[in-house]
Order: sequence, then C-alpha cells, then structure tokens
Amino acid sequence: MREAFVEHAAGLLERPMKVRFDVVGDIAIIGSSTREAETSVAESILRNSPRLKVVLAKSGPVQGTFRLRKFRLIAGENRTTTVHRENGCIFHVDLATTHFSPRLVHERRLVSESVASGESVLNMFGGAGTFSVEIAKKSPSSIVYNVDINPEAIRMALKNALINRFRGRVIAVLADAKIAAIEVFPKRSNRIILPLPEKSREYMHIAILTLKRQGIIQYYDFVDARKGESPVRRGLERIAPLIKCEGVSFCSGRIVKSVAPRRYLISLELQKRDQVWSNTD
Ligand SMILES: C[S@@+](CC[C@H](N)C(=O)[O-])C[C@H]1O[C@@H](n2cnc3c(N)ncnc32)[C@H](O)[C@@H]1O
Repeated sequence: MREAFVEHAAGLLERPMKVRFDVVGDIAIIGSSTREAETSVAESILRNSPRLKVVLAKSGPVQGTFRLRKFRLIAGENRTTTVHRENGCIFHVDLATTHFSPRLVHERRLVSESVASGESVLNMFGGAGTFSVEIAKKSPSSIVYNVDINPEAIRMALKNALINRFRGRVIAVLADAKIAAIEVFPKRSNRIILPLPEKSREYMHIAILTLKRQGIIQYYDFVDARKGESPVRRGLERIAPLIKCEGVSFCSGRIVKSVAPRRYLISLELQKRDQVWSNTD
C-alpha cells in the first residue's frame, strides 16, 4: 500500500491530506474515505506518479462466489485490466472479473519459498494463478494445479502460466475445488493451499483426505482477536475440532494482515502425520 499527500485538492481541503492507495500494475485503487475529494485526490495521484494511468475507487465489499469487488472509475483511462509485476513474475489482471489482492505480495513470497523442489501442489482456490506461478518460479520441477470455479480466473491463470513460461508446470483447472480434490487429485498432493479465508474451514476435511502423508496444508482464515490475544492461536482453536482426529499437526502460523480493527487474516501451516488411521487409505 502506498501513501501520498494531496494538497489543497481544488479548494476542498483545508490542509494537506494523507491518502492511502493500492497499486495493481498501472492502476491506483483508493478507498471510500476520500469520497468528497476523490476527483482531486485521483488527479493528484496521476500527476505525481506518471507510471499510473487509472484511478479506481472501491465501491463495495468483496462478495460472491468469485470474491469480486465493484470499482468506479475516478480518473484516467477507462479500464480494469492491467499487467502487474510481483516477486519476479508477471500477471495479467482484470479487477472486474478476477479477484486479486496486491497486499498478499509478502505472503506469496513466503509460501513460494517454503515449497520444496519436485512437490505436487494443489491450489484449491487459485484465481489468476498468482500463488501458483510464484511457486513454480521458486521451486524447480514442482507442478502446481491451479483450480478455480471462475472461468475468467482460469482464462487469466492460463495466460499467466504461459507468459511466465510455466506451461505444463502450472495447470489451470476450471472446477469446484471439492470435486477437483476428490475426483482428480486423490492422494497426489504434497501440499494443498486454501486461499479462500471465508470458507477454507469447509474444505479442510477434503484437503486432509486428499493430501499425501507428511504433506502440508497452507490454510487461511479471518479471525477476531481481542487485545492481548494471539490471532494465530484463535485461528488454531477454530480448526482444532476439525484436525484433532485426523492426524494433522500445527507447524507454524502468522498474521498476514489486519483487515479491520482487531480482525486479522492469518495463515497456518499444518502437516499430515506419517501414521494416520483412516478407512479411506
Ligand atoms: C480470495 S480469491 C483467491 C485468489 C488467489 N489465490 C489469489 O491470491 O490471488 C478466492 C478464489 O476462490 C474461487 N472460488 C470460490 N469458490 C470456489 C470453489 N468452490 N471451487 C473453486 N474455486 C472457488 C474464487 O473464484 C476466487 O478466485
């Protein structure tokens, strides 16, 4: 996230105002807090950052199965498509049709660095292929199956796999994650990524069932934590009933970002133990 000072915004502001905005490729995205002065804010952003060509404002929450947000054009070219560079990879993005968060750049780097060479990875909610392409880049000879239920996300993931030269190593699969996990990839994955924090818990059981022994689950969740409480511990408590009988242990956890006062996106790394009793083995 970037910050800029906007001065005198066409007489609307009495003193300079600090504005925060996200950058995706050459698109700046501002929040709704600057509504009265948004045109001046947008023009100021374009004037001060010549590389940026579009300013959009968020005009609603992330919603629906495809996890999309509505945007309004405030200044610059009328488009939601761009090319974004992150962690040495290039991504075609269309903010109107496919979920993308530039704020996960650090998390994607950490996850891609943790994957060992040769792993078979199932990304159950892969979107435009961001985690998947970065994993393929960092971990030689790994194969990543990038599943998503949104056809536009899968079209974008295919494109991103090709432009980053990972044809055959990042496989884009248009499917419901549950069906893909059970019918296409049973017991084939060394690692399963669940980057759909609103619903990851619902998919935990299937992820455990379809994971190889000693395999890793990279799990995401939104948790509320009071002052002094550990968000990671809260996240672990939420899934404890799901994992305790399944031979899964906690390896590590971290706060990815704060999403509201005392509400956090957390990431947990869990491992399926070697000896697991299961009547499906
Ligand atoms: C929060 S986005 C994550 C996108 C991507 N991993 C990223 O970080 O850029 C969640 C994705 O899950 C997809 N999705 C939602 N329900 C799904 C399901 N049942 N099966 C497969 N994909 C699903 C959405 O279309 C969306 O692209």
